[in-house]
Amino acid sequence: MKRLKEYNAEIGKFAELFSRNPEYAIKSPARVNIIGEHTDYNRGFVFPAAINCSTLLVAAKNGKRQVRVYSTTYNEQSEFSLDKLKRSRHWSDYVKGVAKELMERDYPVEGFDAVIGGDIPIASGLSSSASLEMAVSEACSALFGFSLEAWEQIKLCRRAENHFVGVNCGIMDQFSIRMGRRGHGLFLDCRSLDYEAVPIPADELVFVIADSGVERGLGATEYHQRQKQCARGRLFFSSINKSLRSLRDVEEDLLIINREKLDPVIFRRCRHVITENKRVLRAVEALKKPDMALFGELMNLSHESCKNDYEVSCKELDLLVDLARMVPGVLGARMTGAGFGGCTINLVMKNRVEEFKQKVGSMYRKSTGIRPEFFVTQPEDGVRSKKL
Ligand code: GLA
Repeated sequence: MKRLKEYNAEIGKFAELFSRNPEYAIKSPARVNIIGEHTDYNRGFVFPAAINCSTLLVAAKNGKRQVRVYSTTYNEQSEFSLDKLKRSRHWSDYVKGVAKELMERDYPVEGFDAVIGGDIPIASGLSSSASLEMAVSEACSALFGFSLEAWEQIKLCRRAENHFVGVNCGIMDQFSIRMGRRGHGLFLDCRSLDYEAVPIPADELVFVIADSGVERGLGATEYHQRQKQCARGRLFFSSINKSLRSLRDVEEDLLIINREKLDPVIFRRCRHVITENKRVLRAVEALKKPDMALFGELMNLSHESCKNDYEVSCKELDLLVDLARMVPGVLGARMTGAGFGGCTINLVMKNRVEEFKQKVGSMYRKSTGIRPEFFVTQPEDGVRSKKL
């Protein structure tokens, strides 16, 4: 077995726990959403990227119907039978959910042992869960010798999260983790599923993620509530005109004309989605020029909209954003992911990154008592497996 340095910790743990070597190693990145928040389940536009922190998974078949998985993040092993898959509100649900979806579609999944590690912070809005789902589906495909077409894999992992885990997420996370491309952001139309990898100029600027240290506690409840509010907006507009099938089809003018007929909360939710879709389109255009000042400004506007209209930010994220904007060389700052905690993404001049970390870090710590983590990101390739 070629010992791959990157997986040393996982391979070592695997040998210790299961007294043999793993057969495959999988690297599944995290994702960051650069712009286009809460638009995916409204069939709109998103612009995420896979990034350089990952789930690392090593695995081997065990010839039984049992699955044994150890997580180095939780220092915990979970064991279950493939014939009795029940949700347990535990990290192992992501493994079970993917196995269940695969088996329901007649993919020949059997028992396996695995160690899961890596460096994605949990509950930080960088999609550690979708990354794990992707890693598990990739591992099963490698171990049991079946191929998974990209969109089939993306949709299957999303269904695992929707049906088994019980979070009704959109398609963005699984998509970015599967389709990620080094040096590129991914512009996706969540209705047609057409996408384009757009190069991100990296000579002078870099995306820096700042982790607020606040876990996305309220996440799922509020997330589902936003979806219901969007559905109310969509129903209103489709009752005016049947061809308006989602908020993606509604123009801002039409929204404004109907302001009085809509509940003020629904109005604001709709305004976020409608304007955010436009911002994504403009941001992709700006990137192609490249006009990075405009790109940064659109990120700023996106944050204001998430904060005021969609109300998915929180005081710590707002503080991180406000502090970032005070540092010279920061072109844009916004919360990223579902919200209510997690991370911000900042577009920063490379020669200002140290100053950014130092200033934002110390001011944030002074006012919250929390030391924020920073990650200087690079857009990376999507999920990959290697035979060991
Ligand atoms: C979570 C979901 C995604 C998306 C974002 C918000 O990450 O999993 O599908 O809806 O929130 O943009």
